Amino acid sequence: MAEQLSTGKRRITVFLLVALALAVLAAPFFILIHQYGKIFSNAENTIAGMASLAALLAVSFLFLEVMIGSFSPLLVRVFNPPRLRRLHIVLGLFGLALALAHFVLLTPKIGEHFSTDNRVFFIAGPIVLVLLIFTIATALMSRKFSRSWRSIHVLNYFILVIAIVHGLVIGDDAGMLALQLLFYGYLTFIFIGFVYRASNTGWRHSLKYRHRRKPAETNP
Ligand code: HEM
Ligand code: HEM
Repeated sequence: MAEQLSTGKRRITVFLLVALALAVLAAPFFILIHQYGKIFSNAENTIAGMASLAALLAVSFLFLEVMIGSFSPLLVRVFNPPRLRRLHIVLGLFGLALALAHFVLLTPKIGEHFSTDNRVFFIAGPIVLVLLIFTIATALMSRKFSRSWRSIHVLNYFILVIAIVHGLVIGDDAGMLALQLLFYGYLTFIFIGFVYRASNTGWRHSLKYRHRRKPAETNP
């Protein structure tokens, strides 16, 4: 059981972390602020704007997921572990729903995008979507995949990196400095999260042996 912080320190830390998480979720709305004038001008622009918003929000939700997952040994010192676990599942499902919405909203123009966008980074989108469904499904069915779900779950770091690069290369808003700063910031923290996890000597060992435990016994 991780040692909890004193009540005062815990409240301040919880407040700061929740404010940061809300800022991450609000960022896509600010990134797209320049589109608000034309977004409702016709149905085509509305659908394209919503596809972009869904994509940016999906990345924000999945970024929070990777932060919660990789820094969970620190987060359980301020958050209640079962609540943190529930939050991890809910945010993950929201992230997936938004990624699916991005795909569905793009379908009217998919042929056009396929012929004009960079082919490799376009195809990265469907690959990310399929892998995401796979890692989430195996985590939710961890009893069935008790031997492998945790090793499969490590793929989430790479999935998010590929999703971000996909957005940076073919996204309609990829030229915006604000989007680039946000996404390079995300990439930096994903790297730090991965190194933090990998630098824990028990981590590799736990990937081999702890996956026999049910998620209910672990922290996200
Ligand atoms: C919605 C279904 C999900 C469930 C049930 C779930 C469950 C879990 C659990 C139980 C852990 C703790 C593993 C441990 O350390 O023992 C974990 C860790 C983690 N989760 Fe999830 N998760 C889900 C979705 C996601 C999503 C969508 C992402 C990101 C794309 C994600 C990213 C991570 C990461 C990066 C870790 C740390 C893994 C490591 O470094 O070993 N999870 N998850
Ligand atoms: C079948 C799956 C997918 C296809 C065909 C696809 C295709 C595309 C296309 C054509 C664009 C450029 C148009 C635009 O900016 O709205 C785009 C942008 C983007 N995609 Fe995807 N994608 C897929 C899945 C995903 C997934 C799973 C994610 C994230 C988890 C994602 C994240 C992004 C991001 C962040 C952008 C940039 C949005 C912007 O610049 O406003 N995509 N995608």
